[in-house]
Amino acid sequence: MRRRLVVGNWKMNGNLADNAALLKGITTQWPVAGEGKGNVDTAVCPPFVYLSQAAQALKDSVVELGAQTVNEHDAGAFTGEVSGEMLVDVGCRYVIVGHNERRRMQVETDAQVADKFHAALQVGLTPILCVGESEQERDAGQALETIGRQLRVVVERVGLEAFEHAVVAYEPVWAVGTGKVASPEQAEEVHRFIRAELGKLGPQTQILYGGSVKPGNAEQLFALPDIDGALLGGASLNADDFVAICKAAA
Ligand code: PGA
Repeated sequence: MRRRLVVGNWKMNGNLADNAALLKGITTQWPVAGEGKGNVDTAVCPPFVYLSQAAQALKDSVVELGAQTVNEHDAGAFTGEVSGEMLVDVGCRYVIVGHNERRRMQVETDAQVADKFHAALQVGLTPILCVGESEQERDAGQALETIGRQLRVVVERVGLEAFEHAVVAYEPVWAVGTGKVASPEQAEEVHRFIRAELGKLGPQTQILYGGSVKPGNAEQLFALPDIDGALLGGASLNADDFVAICKAAA
């Protein structure tokens, strides 16, 4: 039985005061008093500069810490970058790799994403690999082809077995931050496809859906057999919404 996972990607949002309030709002409401976290793991991914603040605020909680990206190198002359070892050092367990905003705006290639995935595993972080098609690719009937390519580049780099320690997130680019959600049929089709692509690791790999998940649509998505949780953007900046989605996953 696969566990559920709800991850909040704060993106470039927050400040010390707002983060403290958000983290307090989450940890006082999750897990539900007297119930424990059950089958649902949770994590938040603040900007790098607030990771230590969040680690401190989460130290007595079940909520784990993740980062939004990682550099593919171990150390050295990479101005402005952050290594996997540094993320572990400040208490991260997860790291998002290949988010579509980074693929597009930071021009991260499939090969670079694969290197980041590898770098995360090397230091014991659990990579959350984002894959997903653009609107044009979906309209052209190329959604599965794109996602298949994004996955295969990583599988070729690290081997299928590496997915034993990784999470995949399907995030249709057209659904991220737009309020448009993939229909249950669209989401389930892609999740089933990803599972099949992962071969023998398919049945045990956690596959999250991301893209405009809100308290109002989470339950319907989590009811689908191949969706194991969510990667949240906007909804993770509001403690009540984040916790409502964790409860929907439970
Ligand atoms: P969203 O973002 O929930 O705001 O659509 C999801 C993501 O970018 O991971």
